[in-house]
Amino acid sequence: MKTIDVNLNNPYKILIDFGLLNRTGELIKPIINGSKVVIVSDETVWNLYGKALSESLDGIKHQVYILPSGEETKSIKYFEALCEYFAEIGLIRTDLVISFGGGVVGDLAGFASASYMRGVPFIQIPTTLLAQVDSSVGGKTAINLKHGKNLLGAFWQPMLVITDVSLLDSLESREFQAGMAEVIKYGAIESKELFDSLLKYEDKNELMKNIVKIIYNCCDIKRKIVEDDELDLGVRMKLNFGHTFGHAIERAGDYKQYTHGEAVALGMIIASKIGEKLGITAHGCSDKLIEVISRHKLPVNADLDYKELIKYIVKDKKKTQSGINLILLNEIGKSLIHTIDADVLLGLVERGI
Ligand SMILES: NC(=O)c1ccc[n+]([C@@H]2O[C@H](COP(=O)([O-])OP(=O)(O)OC[C@H]3O[C@@H](n4cnc5c(N)ncnc54)[C@H](O)[C@@H]3O)[C@@H](O)[C@H]2O)c1
Ligand SMILES: [Zn+2]
Repeated sequence: MKTIDVNLNNPYKILIDFGLLNRTGELIKPIINGSKVVIVSDETVWNLYGKALSESLDGIKHQVYILPSGEETKSIKYFEALCEYFAEIGLIRTDLVISFGGGVVGDLAGFASASYMRGVPFIQIPTTLLAQVDSSVGGKTAINLKHGKNLLGAFWQPMLVITDVSLLDSLESREFQAGMAEVIKYGAIESKELFDSLLKYEDKNELMKNIVKIIYNCCDIKRKIVEDDELDLGVRMKLNFGHTFGHAIERAGDYKQYTHGEAVALGMIIASKIGEKLGITAHGCSDKLIEVISRHKLPVNADLDYKELIKYIVKDKKKTQSGINLILLNEIGKSLIHTIDADVLLGLVERGI
């Protein structure tokens, strides 16, 4: 088992291995402080693994709240329903919430834990690759509003993250690939070694043999960045590499055409091409990104109106700042925050990227 110690005000561990779900009871016993344990999950995950989790709790009394699967669940409606459920069963601040699912369940259960009675301890058991390398680490919790994604949220760190990589076996390929986009991102911004290693794996089987190490590397990169900038006021922005364009692409596809990971993959390529044009990113980086991204079956080009995308980004950002913060690469494994004037960005794109 690999372990990462996250050193924030309330330190916690991330445990990564095959088969950890069956050891959940033993792993959480030392941190159970109150009488109640509530598991929050979604239908898909609970149908697949609910029995295994319940059995592993081995006598620890628990209640279960099941949400519908999918992004629509990250809403006020389900947030309210979950908090009302907490109140109905008499949950108090010394009890424990376990989020058992992907980023949707983690973000919603995390935000409910942060909000209910001003904070109930919670544990993350992430079940998607995206959740295992990204959303379960770092303490960002949120739900969506009609006006946009993640507009209502809080920083609320988990007490423990239990990452059982065996759960990835049942994940649909497209969801697995979406998680790989974030893995590629970590390599691109902070670790050439991780990035280069991603070219070695011929297929998912090969990759799965190394998945504990890969997830460990990603979480450790995120740990360092979050320890430096827990509240996302500076260096944590680097984790948004590919995301400024990615979010605009997701939105252009009405959140249906592209998964988050597919949009981020395209966004990373656009950002590196822009970086090359600006003379900030070493020539050839975008080609390397394209090679790794296509190796992991993510899209490398799409029928996009780049000018419209940039206009959307400009409009969105102009509400708060004059320039646009882009995360660019110096080279593979090194990144920086570059503020660019909106008109300069538009001009660059008009000349073609
Ligand atoms: N908090 C953060 O820092 C952070 C970071 C990145 C993304 N996010 C959020 O994460 C969300 C996306 O997370 P996601 O990609 O995990 O989506 P998700 O939670 O919707 O999971 C994707 C699908 O996979 C299913 N699933 C989950 N685990 C499974 C398993 N082991 N086997 C089979 N099916 C399984 C789910 O039921 C769902 O249908 C977004 O809302 C995003 O905003 C948050
Ligand atoms: Zn992302």
